[in-house]
Amino acid sequence: MSPSEHRPVHVPVMPREVLQWLQLSPGLTVLDGTVGAGGHSTLILKSLGDSGRLIGLDRDPMMLRLASQKLTHSNCQLIRSSYAEASAALQQLGVPRVDRVLLDLGLSSDQLADRERGFGFDAGGVLDMRFHPHEGQPASELLRSLDQNTLEEIFRTHGEEPAAARIASEIVRRRQAGKPVSTAEELESCVCDAVGAARNAGGRNVATRVFQALRIAVNQELQHVERMLTETLPAILKPEGIAVILTFQSLEDRLIKNAFKGHQGWQVLTKTPVTASPAEIRLNPRSRSAKLRAAKWMGHE
Ligand SMILES: C[S@@+](CC[C@H](N)C(=O)[O-])C[C@H]1O[C@@H](n2cnc3c(N)ncnc32)[C@H](O)[C@@H]1O
Repeated sequence: MSPSEHRPVHVPVMPREVLQWLQLSPGLTVLDGTVGAGGHSTLILKSLGDSGRLIGLDRDPMMLRLASQKLTHSNCQLIRSSYAEASAALQQLGVPRVDRVLLDLGLSSDQLADRERGFGFDAGGVLDMRFHPHEGQPASELLRSLDQNTLEEIFRTHGEEPAAARIASEIVRRRQAGKPVSTAEELESCVCDAVGAARNAGGRNVATRVFQALRIAVNQELQHVERMLTETLPAILKPEGIAVILTFQSLEDRLIKNAFKGHQGWQVLTKTPVTASPAEIRLNPRSRSAKLRAAKWMGHE
């Protein structure tokens, strides 16, 4: 889908809380490591004044094209890059360190809405799920090639799926029968068969955790998060710079919590994770699972 055919649908999560924990003021340099269609960045820019600067990164070229339609200020630059490689992106701009970093992890509703990308249950064609069309292997390829134990491990660890073993076994059974699972519809029906439940049993799609786990595996998302936490953030934040991170699943939230607690260079600002208000959850159900953590980088000493 070209950006001209697509009006962004993503609603930024916890916008008020993000701005509050970022503690913005005019003149700061802010890195939005997951700029998406620019929802949070648009709000951030308003607090930075003409002397401030915003650098937006995204792994997905489609999202950057959407962001570039919205973020047209001269003090905003957009680069296609993983946040894990933010040091190189900043070097390219001659910016050694930044005052603030925002990471809003996971998937944008705009990516989900594009059926050709293969992120959602109603995806058309072959399951892809790659953030970048040429990086890594599409989900359909993983479903065709990974052994049963590896598939089970992915569903259990990345999706916390209780029926991981049965689902992995059903995927391999279909493969052996000459009918490999390669579309969203086939994956959904495979999960329904494996767990013996209807599509929307329990009020949400029965394949939700499996889709999430596959997307995380396809994009090696946890590796990017870990690298960002251990190498990149300490290298790019100024002393007393602040990182604000939004996560949508417990595995990622645990990584953030442990990284902030486990390194004496961090001063944790949010003692417990901040969650969305009931009013926001009513208006934007995607915010229901969001957790926000913020920490100040005090340096290596
Ligand atoms: C939840 S959306 C961000 C939405 C954005 N905050 C807004 O308000 O519009 C997450 C974005 O992160 C991007 N992304 C995922 N992994 C990334 C990575 N390792 N580096 C950079 N961007 C990434 C996705 O492509 C997606 O556009």
